[in-house]
Amino acid sequence: MRKGILGLTAAAAALSLGLTACGGDAGESATPQNSGSASAPAAAAGKIGVILPDSKSSPRWETADRKYLEEAFKAAGVQYDIQNAQNDKTAFQTIADQMITNGATVLVIVNLDSGTGKAVLDKAKSQGVATIDYDRLTLGGSASYYVSFDNVKVGALQGEGLIKCLDDKKVEKPIIAQLHGSPTDNNATQFKEGYQGALKPKFDAGDYSEGPEQAVPDWDPAQAGTIFEQMLTSEAKIAGVLAANDTLGNSAISVLKKQNLNGKVPVTGQDAGVQGLQNILAGDQCMTVYKAVKKEATAAAELAVALSKGEKPAATGSVKDTETGRDVPSILLEPQAIFFDSVKDVVADGYVSKDELCKGDFAEKCTEAGVQ
Ligand code: BGC
Repeated sequence: MRKGILGLTAAAAALSLGLTACGGDAGESATPQNSGSASAPAAAAGKIGVILPDSKSSPRWETADRKYLEEAFKAAGVQYDIQNAQNDKTAFQTIADQMITNGATVLVIVNLDSGTGKAVLDKAKSQGVATIDYDRLTLGGSASYYVSFDNVKVGALQGEGLIKCLDDKKVEKPIIAQLHGSPTDNNATQFKEGYQGALKPKFDAGDYSEGPEQAVPDWDPAQAGTIFEQMLTSEAKIAGVLAANDTLGNSAISVLKKQNLNGKVPVTGQDAGVQGLQNILAGDQCMTVYKAVKKEATAAAELAVALSKGEKPAATGSVKDTETGRDVPSILLEPQAIFFDSVKDVVADGYVSKDELCKGDFAEKCTEAGVQ
């Protein structure tokens, strides 16, 4: 029996060849694909359902996660159905129910909050459907596996990155504003733990002072703009912005632009998408964190494929569910900090294309940053 998560063998792929034409869904309703496949080979993999959270809080879900998951499922020759809940918790549960009704044997979810995530996972489990928490851990949940990055490390890179940016600009005694991610996302809690841990010695020593901080519901870009506008009104001397992702960072940058403060006040982020990287090239954002989503999606797809064949794949580690104390078998990947000089690494890794990044005015900046 194959135990490794990399066990996508040619034999397995050949077995499910008859089903390959049925995989895939560009996001329309959960129509049964290849339903009634009673005559399918006994060892054929069951269907894998994936629920993505939204398409506003970060471009990654539709441009990267969906693409790489699809690639991996196609390569394995399994049936799959990827849908996006568009930040609607009721829709999230309905999609899950439909996927199970339509024969999913594995469910991969990015929860919108732990409460609805747990309801979906528990229901799936009670019906014998294997589950994977993808990127976000569902606290109190029952997922068999968790695939993500070391999210405290992501936050630490953001905090250390902001310190480096302020040092480079020789900013004295900066007042720091913090835009945290969604309060319902366990990742946001972990990012915060990471960056506040990195910044604490600076605050404790009196080198930095703590300005306004607030969590942005649902990682919503519009609310982030309103919140940051209020922060800047209440504290005009904000000199550094710890924004938990590029979307929040971009909202802060739009507000800073109105005051001609963009480029003067370093802003952080994460996700390393086209907009975030362009903000770095323009000098408006100081750093981001690149998470190689291809690796994350591939690892999750391999686990899902193995589970769909009734295997018990091995995890590489575990993460403690802080609500239940349960050790959830996990695969956690390493994030990388990106500054102006390392924007090129993200392009070299194939995550963002040079054509898209270096359009128009950015061509010159790309050359300056050594983007190939
Ligand atoms: C993800 C980030 C993303 C954010 C908003 C987090 O859970 O880890 O990559 O930017 O959600 O979608």
